[in-house]
Amino acid sequence: MPVAQLGGDNRGRPTADLTPDGRASSRKPRRRHRKSAAATAAAAALVAASPSPSPPPPPTPSPMQRLFDTSKEVFSESAPGFVPPPQAVARLAAVLSTYPPLHGPVTSRIPPSFTHVRDDLKPRDVGIDPSLPCFRHTESKGPPSVTYLHFYDCSKFSFGIFCLPKSAVIPLHNHPGMTVFSKMLFGSMHLKSYDWATSSPENDCNTLTTSSDGARLAKINTDAVVDASAETIVLYPENGGNLHCFTALTPCAVLDVMGPPYSSADGRDCAYYDESAYSDTGGEMRYSWLKEIPSTFEMKGVQMRQRFTV
Ligand SMILES: [Fe+2]
Repeated sequence: MPVAQLGGDNRGRPTADLTPDGRASSRKPRRRHRKSAAATAAAAALVAASPSPSPPPPPTPSPMQRLFDTSKEVFSESAPGFVPPPQAVARLAAVLSTYPPLHGPVTSRIPPSFTHVRDDLKPRDVGIDPSLPCFRHTESKGPPSVTYLHFYDCSKFSFGIFCLPKSAVIPLHNHPGMTVFSKMLFGSMHLKSYDWATSSPENDCNTLTTSSDGARLAKINTDAVVDASAETIVLYPENGGNLHCFTALTPCAVLDVMGPPYSSADGRDCAYYDESAYSDTGGEMRYSWLKEIPSTFEMKGVQMRQRFTV
């Protein structure tokens, strides 16, 4: 009957020990294992004592990826009527701030509160240039076409660039329940914006803010020429110039981040308006009647291929 011998075979060679579960093991390999474990521990001690190489820094996100990341954070709670907290607004406005080399030294244009932002978004970061065909008036009839470069949208926010040839117009329209960040990348345009009036100019409760023909009273927020040196313009659901129109004085590009996006399914489609003067303000035209009109305005849409790490 074969019996496992302890201590050695008949030729003096080490034989198998029996482990508690009955498996065979060798004494000499065990000694070797002890030696090798000691060597491993010594090596580990040496490695621990020597300085370990630091991991490589994470890659710096591109300006557009950074815009995406910041927009995602700022609009994480986005819903109709949502207004991001002031610090979040300042952060996204800073990311959007562009100080194009077309118009003077970069550093002189950085507002003191955002001097940490050095590599701001520039036209070249988004792949546009004033020489592109979308900034030329090529139509033989009618006003120049506006092109929208669509970069991204989800249920929380969207962003893209409006490209306007000289003299192109984006007519007066609203942004229902939305917060919109607009940054001019280059060029100049006339901006006129309104907010709905909550009372009459005379603050007379008897004066209606809705006319008999359905027009609503609105107060002018901005009526000025803006260019790429302007800081990011932010409009909100109830103020900041929620209704606006653009008239390009030169070829120009405007980057918009908006949240939540328009949604016809939710009853928040874009509406267009005609304006007529409000005559009872003693010559100071700070108010107008705005009446919704059927839209005939169309833009060329271009889906950009840029991908973002979500
Ligand atoms: Fe707009």
